[in-house]
Amino acid sequence: MEFLSVCDESLRRAAAVISGGGLVAFPTETVYGLGGDAFNPAALAKIFEAKGRPRFDPLIVHIAALETLEKMADLSTLADDGREKLAVMSRRLWPGPLTLILPKLKAVPDLATSGLATVAVRFPDHPVAQRLISLSTGAIAAPSANPFGYLSPTRAEHVRDQLGANVDIILDGGPCSVGVESTVLDICGAQPRILRPGGTPKEAIEALIGPVLSDGEIPGGSPVSPGQLKSHYAPRTPLLVYATEDIIALPGEKGEAFLFVDGASRETWLAAQQGNVAEAETNRITVRVLSETGDLLEAAARLFEMLHELDRPAISRIRAQLAPEQGLGAAINDRLRRASCAAR
Ligand code: TXA
Ligand code: MG
Repeated sequence: MEFLSVCDESLRRAAAVISGGGLVAFPTETVYGLGGDAFNPAALAKIFEAKGRPRFDPLIVHIAALETLEKMADLSTLADDGREKLAVMSRRLWPGPLTLILPKLKAVPDLATSGLATVAVRFPDHPVAQRLISLSTGAIAAPSANPFGYLSPTRAEHVRDQLGANVDIILDGGPCSVGVESTVLDICGAQPRILRPGGTPKEAIEALIGPVLSDGEIPGGSPVSPGQLKSHYAPRTPLLVYATEDIIALPGEKGEAFLFVDGASRETWLAAQQGNVAEAETNRITVRVLSETGDLLEAAARLFEMLHELDRPAISRIRAQLAPEQGLGAAINDRLRRASCAAR
């Protein structure tokens, strides 16, 4: 494995690795991806192998030009208003943290879509991802670059520590700005449906195309999107989630970590601790805040990084505050709930 900082030369080498059927971990605005040529089944097989990922979990194909869509998606089978919605969203929300589920063309290998009749497509808003895609094959299949079920990587070092041996090149482009994965939106059916909340808030989508469903369930069925598996994105350390009014009153125990969404909640909790436990004990509790001002964009960007940092043997338990259920708060809470031990 080579760990390379981004420059023309490393981008060219990484692109050659993709074109030759190898694997490159690369930055996107959401999380790092583990990429291979989307049209090369052998490269796709390597991705599943490297992640220890069940074959039933389909991949997102990343593009860097809208024209590429026509090589992968059969837009003729979309209803008229589906095509209109696609046009509006691809113009206004791409490049960006939005993945669209579209009817698939035969040219896309079944391994990329786990045999589904649909393909997930995303146009990432990151210069390194875009250049890697256009310098190589134009379409890179990439799941998040973490072992299956574990926290997603928001820094190149996370990838190196977790998957290093299984990747040919890791391109270090610094921390990811969005920090949670893309929103996955299925526009094949009569009404668009969010299969995974993520970096594009539901509100932003609805402002453009009207109401979208977000339960993600098919009646009585198995998960539509494996991102819906209840336990996912999980740290090894047990994690519990709390509403604000519950966590601020919760006495901490030494060895525990408290993860707050905003600084004001931490202050309220700290004030209550003085009555609950001796100061010396409070000092042995690890306290972190996702955003001092409670800015949900900043909180999302730091979420996985904080969870990586807190996921270590010295910490017995992580107690995490839920965010307000709006904007990126929906994605933050989705990841926290799946990371919680109650979900296992
Ligand atoms: O932000 C992201 O989306 C990151 C970066 C690397 O782009 N990628 C990512 O990929 O999160 P992954 O593989 O970890 O998650 C892909 C999600 C899964 O929940 C998968 O089930 C869903 O997309 N998905 C992919 N193809 C699908 C399809 N045809 N139908 C329904 N869901 C699909
Ligand atoms: Mg993932």
